[in-house]
Amino acid sequence: MVGPRPVRHQSPGLPAEPAGRHAASVAKLIDGPIGAYVHVPFCATICPFCPYNKVVPRPGQPERYFRALRAEARAHLDAGASGPEGFTSLYVGGGTPTLFPDLLRTVVADLPVVGERAIEVLPTHATPERLEVLRDMGFTAASIGVQAFSDEVLHHLRRPHDAATARDAVTAAVGRFDLVDADLVLDVEFDDAHAGSFLRDLVTCFDLGVDQVSTYPLMRFGYTPFGSGAHDRRREHEVLAEATRLAADHGYERRSVWTFNRPDSASYTSITRRRFLGLGAGASSFLGRDFLVNHFGVETYIADVESGRLPIARHLRLGAAGGAAYDAFWRAYSGRLCIPGLGCHTLSPRGFDRYHDLERWVTYHLIEPLWAEMLAEHAAEGTHAGWVTPSRARVSRLWSVMSRVMERQV
Ligand SMILES: C[S@@+](CC[C@H](N)C(=O)[O-])C[C@H]1O[C@@H](n2cnc3c(N)ncnc32)[C@H](O)[C@@H]1O
Ligand code: SF4
Repeated sequence: MVGPRPVRHQSPGLPAEPAGRHAASVAKLIDGPIGAYVHVPFCATICPFCPYNKVVPRPGQPERYFRALRAEARAHLDAGASGPEGFTSLYVGGGTPTLFPDLLRTVVADLPVVGERAIEVLPTHATPERLEVLRDMGFTAASIGVQAFSDEVLHHLRRPHDAATARDAVTAAVGRFDLVDADLVLDVEFDDAHAGSFLRDLVTCFDLGVDQVSTYPLMRFGYTPFGSGAHDRRREHEVLAEATRLAADHGYERRSVWTFNRPDSASYTSITRRRFLGLGAGASSFLGRDFLVNHFGVETYIADVESGRLPIARHLRLGAAGGAAYDAFWRAYSGRLCIPGLGCHTLSPRGFDRYHDLERWVTYHLIEPLWAEMLAEHAAEGTHAGWVTPSRARVSRLWSVMSRVMERQV
């Protein structure tokens, strides 16, 4: 089925063909079917463990932001980025994508999408009424940011909701979408010393009937107040091995390094889409051989779009080999890697442990330094991405070499 075609119209204050020429160059770099990722960089309150690009919005900023988002999407669509059929999937992440549903609706309505449409949902927003609004917008998959069903853990994470709200959210979502995911965060040191509730929470998710549980080990980004502590890797491996046994007891399977699924369910994750075009402040794109990063600063992003430029801040040219390696790395996350001529390989339990360690290493050596550089844009705008201090990020020699070798002038 082909989704709705893009609506061509003039947004107030924007040039007739915004960024058209540059969007055509980006479209030429896309070397296969591509999904769309939309980033909503706003949260009502900020959690101190969170590394993502987000701010508490200024008055009037969301309206201007979503108008720019539509214009950015229109520039790419006019250049043919989605291909003749439309984007293969849509993933809306944040920040908190459900904070301004009426504004989000205008963006989603413009995007032609043939496959799954997924959105991250803050538990506070997962009431039956608000979930119906998301369904009405065409979303087929919802990821609920549970983190824990323990008030003690939620307080440790300074979450804006309690355990009862998290449980109500999952109950309201299950059965309403083709796929419901619940995110849990595992901070082994805190869990062992205090709540000890992670594995109980996992079983609660199974009992509530979710299609997928994502069990994210807490990443201690150096620029957040939770950072740069050491990790008890062996203990993390043990807990995830126990989670795998519990999953099997409850009829679930380990579908990837950090996800457990009902055998009949589809897989849901933003990072296993082969190619994606990122829209919005802080969104990144992987086009097959090229990696692009949009400006993180919300005002910088809006100003670029309003003046007719694509809001691209960084362009890394990975090349054919680098692109294939990037692709293979994220494919292996699913625990199964098929290479033409070499056959398919499934990760053993030890393989999952090694991959878990590798994911963390990539996060700290490549993702953290890139995001820290980009998050510094907020200070330049006179705003603050709550709790984040970019200068405290880890220093990575690998990232400095890679960015020097691969970076292209935008
Ligand atoms: C953008 S948030 C989800 C949407 C919504 N803002 C919320 O908090 O419910 C995406 C997910 O990333 C995970 N996450 C956030 N910070 C993390 C960290 N430092 N380490 C590991 N996972 C993290 C959480 O599980 C969270 O649900
Ligand atoms: S984890 Fe907290 S700060 Fe991060 S995106 Fe979700 S609500 Fe916002």
